Order: sequence, then structure tokens, then C-alpha cells
Amino acid sequence: MKSLFDFYGETKIFVSLRSEVYFYKLKIMGRVITSQELARKATDLMPGGVNSPVRSFVYVENPPIYVDSAKGSKIKTVDGDEILDFVLSWGAIILGHAHTFVVREVSKSLENGTSYGLNHTKEIEFCEILKKIFPESLFRVMNSGTEATMTAVRLARAYTKKKYIIKFSGCFHGHSDQFLTSAGSGMATLSIPSSAGVPEEFTSCTITLDFNSDQLEEAFKKYEIAGVILEPLPGNMGVIIPEEKFLKTIFDLCEKNSAVVIFDEVITGFRTGWGGISNSGKIKPIIFDSDGEREIEIKTRKPDITTFGKVVGGGFPIGIVRSERKIMEMLAPSGQVYQAGTFSANPISLTGGISTLKTIAEYENGFYKKLRQITKMFFDVLKNWSVRKGISISINAETGMLSVFFTEKSPKNFEEAKKSDTKMFKRLFSFLLKNGILIPPSPFEAWFVSISHTEDDVQKFSEVIERF
Ligand SMILES: Cc1ncc(COP(=O)(O)O)c(C=O)c1O
Repeated sequence: MKSLFDFYGETKIFVSLRSEVYFYKLKIMGRVITSQELARKATDLMPGGVNSPVRSFVYVENPPIYVDSAKGSKIKTVDGDEILDFVLSWGAIILGHAHTFVVREVSKSLENGTSYGLNHTKEIEFCEILKKIFPESLFRVMNSGTEATMTAVRLARAYTKKKYIIKFSGCFHGHSDQFLTSAGSGMATLSIPSSAGVPEEFTSCTITLDFNSDQLEEAFKKYEIAGVILEPLPGNMGVIIPEEKFLKTIFDLCEKNSAVVIFDEVITGFRTGWGGISNSGKIKPIIFDSDGEREIEIKTRKPDITTFGKVVGGGFPIGIVRSERKIMEMLAPSGQVYQAGTFSANPISLTGGISTLKTIAEYENGFYKKLRQITKMFFDVLKNWSVRKGISISINAETGMLSVFFTEKSPKNFEEAKKSDTKMFKRLFSFLLKNGILIPPSPFEAWFVSISHTEDDVQKFSEVIERF
């Protein structure tokens, strides 16, 4: 006999939230809990109803969604909606959700225990993959990008015996105290200039400058700089293209003043290419704005320290610091810089990482070539749509990531990115979501593309955006 919940139907209801009226589809498919019911419960359980701020969708004035499952390029919500995903766990997923090989390898590994807090063979296997790319380097594996950047700066200060760090407005390096000034990502989205609860003294050794600016020389004259940390291709104020001369100035000044360059490649590492920009020494953006479309190549040098995260964990928590032996051996127990973690390099994250990196390495006809082609297809859809509709947009893209700004010219820093028409962005977000497409709920987050995004996905994206 059919129970009440076996009933398949679709009901349309209206809900008022923050004085705006939203339209919901409530599907009863053997499930009773909808996204909106969960969101209501969540506010009594978690601050803002979430465990990471941007998940609240508060900036885009939309109610949050609740994911039930994910496969390939799509997520399925608890409401039964299948949604094309450009968030991809904020860039952590590159093969697509629940990739068969990764799931199989991790499932096998689970049988052998989840965390030992002791050494194991996967650490050797994983670091040997990295060592082939960076033969002169040692690696320390931890649980998040936040930990990795925190450790990188600690190493920079210990190595140079200086205390000031330069970072750039709109770049995001995780949520440790010293980085919470003019940061990108969620802080940019929520317009929080500096976090409450962080005493001024804690950020007094962080010098924040504008990306692509000529402010570096002055800062080096004024302060004893230990290091400069940057996303070499920022993704946290949207994707912003660095100028070659800006990157060169960073390296020249660091060399001259015995400071270290830290590339935070938590996003770009193994996304734009194998080993990231630290390995290739190149950034190859594709740009579209009122000056037309162009593909450029920006050359850069290898940084003293790199941080990785996201993609290298294959969807599991991870953070990595890479540098030459002379810097890395300052870490305890070889040296006096302290860093430790119960779950550091746990076998599950490393199995996720190894199986992901193996899949990338063994991909037929070149993984990054294919990923770039798919990214370019979405780029072209956006470009052609804007030209046909006469809407001014700029698109900054690299392999596996892109951003759309409602500006005439491609923005060069956070100030320019903030000039993007936010109302248009919010409208676009809502329209796409209503039509089964999820882009990041902020103009200050990159859209991510996985190798599982298909030509059918491109077709769907094209059909939907044409109606906007
Ligand atoms: C460039 C960059 N660095 C560091 C972090 C922090 O990484 P996690 O969220 O793993 O702590 C992020 C997170 O988005 C990031 O984008």
C-alpha cells in the first residue's frame, strides 16, 4: 500500500524571508524535509545557520540549499532538484563529485582505519608524487589551507628573523588572525573589513597593499619585510589577472631585501596545471572585456614557499607547505618552528589525494588540455551571450576557473572588482539557480569547472543564460 510519503507531487508555495518573497518548489518524494525547513532548524543550531559564512547565500539574498548527494558535475538537493555545480566545494573537486576511482580507493582505505596519528605508507607515496615535481623540496602535510598559510608565514618569519608580512587586499589566505584584514572570499562577500575578536596587535605585522599596484617599494623601505604572500592568480576577489611586472617586482624586492615569496596556491595548485604556477612558472589567462578577447602568457619565477590545498586532497581536508630543505628543516622536530596536528596527513585525505593525482596524471590526451577546453566553452557561452544582449561584462579565466564581472574592463584589483554591478550579479545568481545552475553565491568567488563538466552541461548553460 502506498504511504503518504510515496506520493509524488509538486506544490508551489510562497515564503517571505527578510521581506523578500521567494518562490519554492516543494516536492514530496518520500522525503519530508526540504531545504527551507532545514534552513529554519539550522538557525537554532549553528550561527547564521551555517558552518562557513558564504553557504548562507545571504549576499545573494537567496535561501540556502541543502545537498543530498553529488555526482560528476551535478549536485542533488534534498528537494530533489538536480543542479549543475560551479562551486565544486570551492574548487576542491576537479574530477567531478564522487569520482568512481577516488571513491573506490578511499572506501578500501577506510577498512584499514581512518586516522592513526602515526606514520604510514600513504605519506611516502603522496610526497613522492610531489617530490617528482619539486625535487629540491620537502613537504609538510596538514588539514587545511588555513593551516598551510599560517605555517608558511611562521617559517618565513623564522627563516628571515624578521616580522612584517605583505599581503594583498582581496587575496584570501584562510582565517588565521594575521590575515583577516581586507581579505577576499567570505570577508569580501560580507563586507567585513577586519574581523572582530582580532586585536590590532595581531595584524600590526601584516602590511596590506593593493594587488597589481606599485606600492611595494615604499613598503619595503618602511618595514623589515620577512615575506610577501599572494595568490599568484587570485580567485578570492573573483579571478584577477596579475601583471608580469607586478610579479617581477615582488621577486626582485624579496631577493634584494632577503625576504621570501610565498605563493598561496590552495586554489590554483593542480587546478590550472600540474604542480600549479609554482611548477609551470606560467599563467595563461583568457580575458574578455570591451577590448575584446585575448589569451596572454605571464611568466613568473618559482616562489620560496608554496602552499597547496583543495584539489590535492581529492575532496578531503588537506593543506601542504612546500619549500627547499633549508627552510623546511626549520620545522619541528628538525628545527624550532612548531606545527603539529592530530589528523595531519591522515590516510583518508592522502588516499583521496593520491587517487586524484594519479587520475590526472594518467588521463588520456592530457587532463589540463581537456579541462581548459571545457572552461573555454563556458567562457564562450558567456561572451557570446553578453555580445548578443549588449550587456557589458568582463571575463577572467584560466584552466578550471573563471569569473564574470559586470564591468567594462577586466578588473585589476579588489577596488576595481568591487565596481562590478552587484544587483546584476544577484539577479544572475537567482535566475541561474531557479533554472538548475549553481554559481558561487558571490562575485568575489571564482566559478570552478571540473573534468566531469560535459558538452551537454555547456549546452544547458547556454540555453538557460540565453533566457536571462
Ligand atoms: C587561496 C586560499 N588560501 C587558503 C585558503 C584556506 O583554505 P581552507 O579553507 O582549506 O582552510 C583558501 C580557501 O578558500 C584559499 O582560497
